[in-house]
Amino acid sequence: MVLVGVAVGGALALVAVLIPWLPSADSSQAHKVDDVYWFVTIICMAIFALVAGVSVYSVWKFRAAPDDEEDGSPIHGHTGLEVVWTAVPAALVTAISIYSGVVLVQVERIPAEHRVIEVTAQQFAWSFTYPEAKVTSGQLALPINQPVEFKLTAKDVIHSFWVPEWRMKKDAVPGIETQVIVTPTKLGTFTVICTELCGLGHAAMRAQALVLTQAGFERWLNNEKQAAAAAGSAQGKTLFTQKCGTCHALADAGTTAEVGPDLDKGLAGKNADFIRKSIVDPNAEIAPGFQPNVMPGNFGELLSQQQLDSLVEYLLDTAGKG
Ligand code: CUA
Repeated sequence: MVLVGVAVGGALALVAVLIPWLPSADSSQAHKVDDVYWFVTIICMAIFALVAGVSVYSVWKFRAAPDDEEDGSPIHGHTGLEVVWTAVPAALVTAISIYSGVVLVQVERIPAEHRVIEVTAQQFAWSFTYPEAKVTSGQLALPINQPVEFKLTAKDVIHSFWVPEWRMKKDAVPGIETQVIVTPTKLGTFTVICTELCGLGHAAMRAQALVLTQAGFERWLNNEKQAAAAAGSAQGKTLFTQKCGTCHALADAGTTAEVGPDLDKGLAGKNADFIRKSIVDPNAEIAPGFQPNVMPGNFGELLSQQQLDSLVEYLLDTAGKG
């Protein structure tokens, strides 16, 4: 009986070992998670082999003969056996709890030195913000061998952040911030997958994750910063042409109107605060030779904060430099 159990267990163990069931483990947390996984799986296989072995043996050994119409012999429980099959699983479950708890504390520990990346999930896309660089991208990039704390939130419904090769997974929930720590240990391109059913586009809610060298990461961050600046500047120029160009001259935008001050002259040497104030509260300071109440005072409401920012930035970069 024991031999059958051992044979079945051996066959199962071979299947478990020979087939690469899990994706490659490419973060420092992944190996610890896999160790727990295999610890639990091997215990399960041993118990399954034992139960299956006893069952198969019993069916074969105690099978009633075709002409045997008798009742089975009356038997009572076996106290020793019952104690064993209660105590052994209790000990195993306790061991699994303690080991899992220890690993959980280890993989969730936030190292003193770490980078923060803010992750925002929404139907059906991910966006990644690098707060210290003020960069937001639809692509995730991180330097190899450095711990990253992802701060997750969602705009609409619950999503879940997961890169299989890193193993770590966490829900992104509207209204609260959740954290997950990852230290990637392999260069390459990975996929961020949403693992919480979040609507029709759930299956397509993926993003690219790049693990780069330190130098490669800095280059990537710089490129993103420049792309964002270029997009902001283009938006600022469009806004200027639409909202300001009919009254103000600005060489960069090619406007020549003289209703309000010439901004190439008027803004030379002025800072962002002055420009912002002049847009939202034009009467605060009237340029010599111009009248108050000519420029509308409601641009603060007409423009979104983000539009206002790009307009101020655009004027700061171009006025007086044409
Ligand atoms: Cu987002 Cu599923």
